[in-house]
Amino acid sequence: MCQMKTILVAVTVVALSVVLQGRWCDGCFEDERVALLQLQNSTRSSLFEESDDDDCCAWERVECNPVSGRVMQLSLNFSREGDHWQPNASLFLPFRGLTRLHLPGNNITGFVGNLSGLIKLETLDLGSNYDMNISILSSLAVLPSLRILDLAFSNLQGSAGLTGLENFRKLEILDLTYSTVNDGFLETVGKISSLKSLVFQGCGLGGSIEGLCQLKSLQELDISSNNLYGMLPSCLANLTSLKSLDLSYNLFTGDMNNSPLRSLLSIKDMLLSGNHFQIPVSLTPLFNHTNLQKLEARNNNLTVYANEEYSPYLVPKFQLQTLDLSSHSLPGQPFPKFLYHQKHLRFLDLSHGSFQGGFPFWLLENNTNLVQLILADNSLSGSFQQLPNHPHLKLSSLDISSNNLEGKLPQKLAASFPKLSYANMSDNEFMGRIPKSFGTLKYLQTLVLSNNRLSGNIPSQFGKSFTSFVNGSLNGTAHSNNGSLILVNNLDWLQLNGNLLSGRIPNSLLNCTYLTMLDLSNNNLSGPVPNWIGNQSSLRVLDLSQNSLSGFLPKGIFSPYMKEVYLSRNQLEGPLNHLLPLDDVYSDWLMTIDLSHNHFTGTIPGWIQMYSQLSYLLLNNNNFQGPIPVEVCKLELLSLLDLSHNNLSGHILPCISSSSGWSRREEAMIVPPISSQQPQQPLEFTTKGLSHSYQGTILVYISGIDLSNNSFTGEIPPAFGNFTNIKVLNLSHNFLSGPIPSTFSNLKQIESLDLSYNNLNGSIPNELVELNFLGVFSVAHNNLSGKTLGNVAQFGTFGESSYQGNDLLCGWPLPKDCPGTRVDDGMPKAPPRNYEESGGDGFIDMGAFRVSFSGSYIVMLLGIVTVLLVNPHWRRAWFYCVEVAASRCYYFAVDHLPVPMKYRVSHPRCF
Ligand SMILES: *[C@@H]1O[C@H](CO)[C@@H](O)[C@H](O)[C@H]1NC(C)=O
Ligand SMILES: *[C@@H]1O[C@H](CO)[C@@H](O)[C@H](O)[C@H]1NC(C)=O
Ligand SMILES: *[C@@H]1O[C@H](CO)[C@@H](O)[C@H](O)[C@H]1NC(C)=O
Ligand SMILES: *[C@@H]1O[C@H](CO)[C@@H](O)[C@H](O)[C@H]1NC(C)=O
Ligand SMILES: *[C@@H]1O[C@H](CO)[C@@H](O)[C@H](O)[C@H]1NC(C)=O
Ligand SMILES: *[C@@H]1O[C@H](CO)[C@@H](O)[C@H](O)[C@H]1NC(C)=O
Ligand SMILES: *[C@@H]1O[C@H](CO)[C@@H](O)[C@H](O)[C@H]1NC(C)=O
Ligand SMILES: *[C@@H]1O[C@H](CO)[C@@H](O)[C@H](O)[C@H]1NC(C)=O
Repeated sequence: MCQMKTILVAVTVVALSVVLQGRWCDGCFEDERVALLQLQNSTRSSLFEESDDDDCCAWERVECNPVSGRVMQLSLNFSREGDHWQPNASLFLPFRGLTRLHLPGNNITGFVGNLSGLIKLETLDLGSNYDMNISILSSLAVLPSLRILDLAFSNLQGSAGLTGLENFRKLEILDLTYSTVNDGFLETVGKISSLKSLVFQGCGLGGSIEGLCQLKSLQELDISSNNLYGMLPSCLANLTSLKSLDLSYNLFTGDMNNSPLRSLLSIKDMLLSGNHFQIPVSLTPLFNHTNLQKLEARNNNLTVYANEEYSPYLVPKFQLQTLDLSSHSLPGQPFPKFLYHQKHLRFLDLSHGSFQGGFPFWLLENNTNLVQLILADNSLSGSFQQLPNHPHLKLSSLDISSNNLEGKLPQKLAASFPKLSYANMSDNEFMGRIPKSFGTLKYLQTLVLSNNRLSGNIPSQFGKSFTSFVNGSLNGTAHSNNGSLILVNNLDWLQLNGNLLSGRIPNSLLNCTYLTMLDLSNNNLSGPVPNWIGNQSSLRVLDLSQNSLSGFLPKGIFSPYMKEVYLSRNQLEGPLNHLLPLDDVYSDWLMTIDLSHNHFTGTIPGWIQMYSQLSYLLLNNNNFQGPIPVEVCKLELLSLLDLSHNNLSGHILPCISSSSGWSRREEAMIVPPISSQQPQQPLEFTTKGLSHSYQGTILVYISGIDLSNNSFTGEIPPAFGNFTNIKVLNLSHNFLSGPIPSTFSNLKQIESLDLSYNNLNGSIPNELVELNFLGVFSVAHNNLSGKTLGNVAQFGTFGESSYQGNDLLCGWPLPKDCPGTRVDDGMPKAPPRNYEESGGDGFIDMGAFRVSFSGSYIVMLLGIVTVLLVNPHWRRAWFYCVEVAASRCYYFAVDHLPVPMKYRVSHPRCF
């Protein structure tokens, strides 16, 4: 009956339309087709041209109502390039049935004429039009049915005299994500009383949010990532319909105990991360929030109230699914008790909380739906054995790193958490063997067990192949090998560094074909570096340093895909020439080779030039001999070269200075090396008095050359003055002769210059006093003559030892005065030009500079490391971004194509 009616109505409508429009045979109204062509004309691009179909309903970007045949949706996203566009309202008025109009990215500044004829328009997307004036809102308020207005990524400057907003009677969703608006705008928006969802993320807001209190119907409010500060206005308590509130990443303060948040009892999602709220770890102020499911409050001020007693009668009414309270807080607090009453937790992050006591196994028992459990960096102690007997089929991420947990690693881990893909138990006091069962975690991608006291062998179970057929279909990841399908281990990140592991590196790791990072450094591993390493085409970072590995390196160790290879401090031997890569293997990846402190022999191989990205080459403390091959000069990005403590001889090649790596600083910073993710294993680069122990990205900042303790002869090439950004130059303990080049005065960034124990002669160039950052300086034990540099600038801090052993040298600080001069004649007549500006004692300045610089650096580094370690998804994104091409970060743009906010998904995003 009802259906009949509908059909009848439809037929009538269609018949009427046909009669009225005269023409509707191919499904498209003629007036709308003409209007579309006109629209195309005004966008000056071929919007619909490819669709030569007469039926405009079939055109791309056009969607018609199946019943009325009228154009219902127009998607003119990014359709017009060039100058500003003020489309005439008349362009759209023919589309009387239009309900959704998408016009993002067209450089629209406003509309000419009155849009009020679009009586059915419900959704209008004007995002990414960067030069709009806020007055456009007045002209949109006439749209009687408008429900959703997207103005994300727009520039909405101005607010004075904005009228008529109360005419928005049906507007429910207003999205201003990353639009620039003036502070006063919040007041204005407060007049649109129909609003249910308001997004002001990243709008640069800094004023009061009181204006929003009038929005009584608001269910979703996102004012995250602004500069809002101070206490929350108490009128916020009036927003009793709020279900989702995002205040993250502002500067809000105030104690949750007397905050309006207490009154928002309908709230389901409360996002407070990155503010200065004082949040009692007991969460008692929120105990009446029956609907609360998600509380994200990381990086706030977690407080404990001294007289706060846990009352068993005080029970929260909420059942949380997501709880993130990761914040640094006062040491020694007990584990939050309200968690006893939670049984639906899926994501829990209580890292950096200084919580003490035994591991909360009850949490696992109570919450069988846990997906992610992060308790890193607390003071949890005792054993980690009492895992649940029933498998938790959802737990995929477990991070209990940086606690005081001890005893053995749990055998049961694999049985209790069979779906684990990320496991970090590093920096605890675990001992004993790595249970073989860990190798059966077939979803495991990341395993970090660094810095414990684990011993025994690395279980050969890692990389074990899984073959399980279910009705002929394979489960897991298939990998084809000689026609036979085998399933391989998913492990892509294995860090077992800093333990007492012994034995050989198991060949089974060969089957972990996704391995990108293998860090086994600082253990007692012995035997050879396995042959298969070179075939592991996914491996990017290999760190086997500080073990007892011996024998020759396998061919292919520097595979074309490898990015960083650390093998220092082992007993590896033999020449490197046999490692000659295939002729056509030019690697664009390899950035770091550290073979220092081994027993390698032979010459430095010329094939090194094939690795065009090589920046850090450390071959020091080996038995290399012969000259430095000229091929080293072809390494255009070289910025750290340590060949010290070998038997190298011959002349020092002037062309080494031609690499642009010595001066390329800022660019390199954009793409930090992947080793920034392995904070445990720094590259060591030590010079007398200054220990350069840098890791990861810090390397980007350092450049240096250490050729000391070899048998180099000849003169120091004056071209070495071209190392304008070099920090360390050590040529000591060689047989170099001739003068110190006066070009050394160009080494403006140098912190350590050591030319001692050579046969250098002539006088010390006076220009060296311009080297303001110098903290270590020695020309001792040469045949230099004439005056020292005297007591001037930072040279005043260098004692006799910097000059001693040069019989013909005189002046301060040497006991021998120069003949025919007064004592103070060691000083130059005029101070060096830059000295006054550099502000006093160069040495002290340099120290301060270095400390603050590394301090801020390390904070950033740890940030990245934490994020990457905790979140395998981001880490993949990181790899993706770093490896594919940091310059092509188009994801960001893609990500921000305006999409109604309900449908947004996040993609990996480059930094
Ligand atoms: C497109 O615009 C040009 C002038 O800019 C005009 O001559 C032409 O007639 C227009 N075409 C249509 C289909 O409106
Ligand atoms: C928008 O138009 C202005 C003025 O014509 C122009 O300077 C600007 O580059 C355009 N913006 C874009 C994104 O095309
Ligand atoms: C809440 O709204 C009422 C009226 O709508 C108003 O009288 C009251 O002052 C508001 N409360 C706060 C705390 O602003
Ligand atoms: C929760 O509600 C009860 C009863 O209305 C009240 O006594 C109590 O103070 C409230 N607790 C909080 C934390 O607001
Ligand atoms: C955190 O709160 C305590 C008081 O509980 C206060 O002393 C401290 O300064 C606050 N820290 C920050 C960073 O706001
Ligand atoms: C959680 O575990 C604790 C300790 O075993 C127990 O007292 C509590 O009742 C459990 N809570 C729930 C909700 O099951
Ligand atoms: C590794 O894979 C090969 C097949 O390619 C298989 O024969 C071998 O048993 C696997 N090794 C381990 C330890 O699972
Ligand atoms: C294997 O896959 C099948 C079909 O996709 C599924 O029903 C089964 O549960 C899976 N088994 C395991 C152990 O994952």
